[in-house]
Amino acid sequence: MLSDLLPASYALSSAMFILAIRGLASPHTARSGNLIGILGMILAVLATVWSPLVSEYLCSFAAIAAGGIIGVYIAFKVKMTSLPQMIAAFNGLGGLAAVFIALAEILAGSTAYLDVSAGVVIGALAFSGSMIAFAKLQGLVPSAALAFRFQQQLNLLLALAVAGLCIAFLLSPQTNIFLWLGSLAILLGFLLVLPIGGADMPIVISILNACSGWAAVGIGFSLNNVLLIITGSIVGASGAILSYIMIKAMNRSLAGVLFSNFGSRKTAAAAAGENKTARAGSPQDAAYIMENANKIIIVPGYGMAVAQAQHVLREMARDLRTLYDVEVKFAIHPVAGRMPGHMNVLLAEAGVPYEDVFALEDINREFASADVAYVIGANDITNPLAKNDASSPIFGMPVLDVEKAKTVFFVKRSLGSGYAGVENPLFFAENTIMLYGDAKQVTEEIVSALEKK
Ligand code: TAP
Repeated sequence: MLSDLLPASYALSSAMFILAIRGLASPHTARSGNLIGILGMILAVLATVWSPLVSEYLCSFAAIAAGGIIGVYIAFKVKMTSLPQMIAAFNGLGGLAAVFIALAEILAGSTAYLDVSAGVVIGALAFSGSMIAFAKLQGLVPSAALAFRFQQQLNLLLALAVAGLCIAFLLSPQTNIFLWLGSLAILLGFLLVLPIGGADMPIVISILNACSGWAAVGIGFSLNNVLLIITGSIVGASGAILSYIMIKAMNRSLAGVLFSNFGSRKTAAAAAGENKTARAGSPQDAAYIMENANKIIIVPGYGMAVAQAQHVLREMARDLRTLYDVEVKFAIHPVAGRMPGHMNVLLAEAGVPYEDVFALEDINREFASADVAYVIGANDITNPLAKNDASSPIFGMPVLDVEKAKTVFFVKRSLGSGYAGVENPLFFAENTIMLYGDAKQVTEEIVSALEKK
């Protein structure tokens, strides 16, 4: 009886996961999408635990309780700006789970050798690659590309060895070959991600996310588990699509991300930027210029997220509109922040109306008619070197043309570079005024100056 209910529960869970992703695609339906996903997962876990597939209840409940408690704790504790490394860590654990399941299958005498070896190789790569990505983003190892001589050749050799071991295992399925296969794939994952750095890291995380999904598919086939195959495919396909979107938005290529050691070279422009001076202003100067403007475009970036300045930013926009009759718009670059939709989520959370928020391609030509571009905690996404310096690592990435506004304010704590590690020549432009300080604090001071009159 219970075993009859399992396929139906799995079909329902799968449908709920698909509906959840659909819901997450729009800010209006994201909350309900998330809830449907949670309910789908609860149904999947309960159906599995009460099915004849599980006979060892104590271990199962202990594992679910431990994982659940840690997961809930992390979900409440994690900062929005640390989400990329959290995703990396969770991807890695997904990959490791695939490796252990594959090992258990082999020890239990499974004959699905192809599925199991695909699962272990992809899972091991996802595990070790994600651990390095986590360590880089968390600052535990330097985030720049770590390259050494003959690295690519060594990786090629390892990849060939992994392929050779796969074939050897299929021809002669022995546990020791399987263990070698898993170990070499783990080493390859480390070495593949080590030389990737800077702005390419979020893309790598998304690729590894896709890998953990495909590893689950391989394991799903070996276990004959339809739910694992479907959810693995959803994760694999969505990770692949997300990687494609990011690669396209940054005008990179998959090979460029995986093999070009982003951030390991210094550009001519960065080396030449030493003797220039940038003009600094005060929040009160900024308030004066902004209240006399007709049109202002706000460009939020990663620093706004760090400072959690989105609420005060909404207040600033409201004051400018209601007290001074200024037209205010928000411009969102597709890779502003550290994950897709990062800025949209924060602005929506602060109650900024959707109709005031514009994508790069819809607003870029409006900078020429704007009096002020208020760039808050953003850097790389405005860097004109992406348009005119072919030696720059960000060359070709579409950027917001903030320099076309009459006055450009950069709100940041220093002249330091952004995630890509590339100096921004706009800090030294004639129409730029630097507003040094924490994004939230500076904007708060502007709001009090605007409200004083
Ligand atoms: P960044 O270029 O990283 O610039 C953020 C700036 O914020 C920094 O220069 C920093 O300057 C400033 N900042 C940090 N904390 C601050 C605070 N508390 N108050 C004020 N300013 C603060 O960010 P961006 O312009 O958003 O560009 C995103 C980067 O991420 C790009 O390089 C993009 O390629 C990369 N990336 C993003 C994604 C996605 S999907 N979003 C994916 C792949 C790569 P100071 O230290 O001087 O304050």
